[in-house]
Amino acid sequence: MIETGHGQSILSEFTHQARAFNVSPVMRSAATLRGLIEFMPFAPDQSWVDLAAGPGLVSRALAPHVAVVHAIDLTAAMVELGRAEAAREGLTNITFALGDACALDVRAGSFDGAVTRFSLHHIPFPERCVAEMARVVRSGGHIVIADHVGSEDRAESLWHESIERLRDPSHWACLPHARIRALALALGLLPVREKVVPFRLDFEEWLARGSGAAQSRDLIEEAIRRHPGGVSSFHLSGGRGEREIGLLYSVSVWRTQ
Ligand SMILES: C[S@@+](CC[C@H](N)C(=O)[O-])C[C@H]1O[C@@H](n2cnc3c(N)ncnc32)[C@H](O)[C@@H]1O
Repeated sequence: MIETGHGQSILSEFTHQARAFNVSPVMRSAATLRGLIEFMPFAPDQSWVDLAAGPGLVSRALAPHVAVVHAIDLTAAMVELGRAEAAREGLTNITFALGDACALDVRAGSFDGAVTRFSLHHIPFPERCVAEMARVVRSGGHIVIADHVGSEDRAESLWHESIERLRDPSHWACLPHARIRALALALGLLPVREKVVPFRLDFEEWLARGSGAAQSRDLIEEAIRRHPGGVSSFHLSGGRGEREIGLLYSVSVWRTQ
């Protein structure tokens, strides 16, 4: 993965984004993280892996509730920042490592659970990431997939993706919720629970975090002007200077056989 053009794009984007992502109000918001953690089926003696963990926002929220969290990410800047932040917060049960979520250097059945948030839309073959989650979780363990999702409608999806890619060239594709379901079911995972809920974020903060913003702001504004109502998976509300993006956020919990 890391050798591919897309792998290089991920490294470049998330080396650029690491610090801003770590302090992004929406990404680190207690309410957002609580909405995920409270949905997860963990137990205090369990060991979990967080794939494409970034600076470990999910890992750090999960750590007080379980025995061990192992956070893995492709981008060194993210891993180093996560390690420093966990130490600063006094969390001693998280380890951070560099790694590819689609080809883990981890033995089968090593964990009680695996989680990944806001990652599948960066991964060209998301099936491989979910298959790795299924492989490294023991039988009867859990997998949690959280991401913002795309529209089932091709025209809506193309418009949405063009904006995402202009702002972050490492964005690959938001899967529709039904596609996440289908790929988990195809891997033999058993559905436990799921939700698709609105997710709001500040337009200017989101735009500024992406490495494409400096060159592509005008194109993004033009795309938005052409479809002022947006689409189901991406629409704007509010006036200039205080615009909010409305996304759809899917969280699904699966059990391994
Ligand atoms: C939007 S951030 C999400 C970070 C974290 N999961 C969160 O929700 O706070 C996406 C992260 O995915 C990582 N990433 C993308 N593709 C990856 C891959 N194949 N393996 C591991 N990490 C990957 C990037 O380096 C980046 O840190």
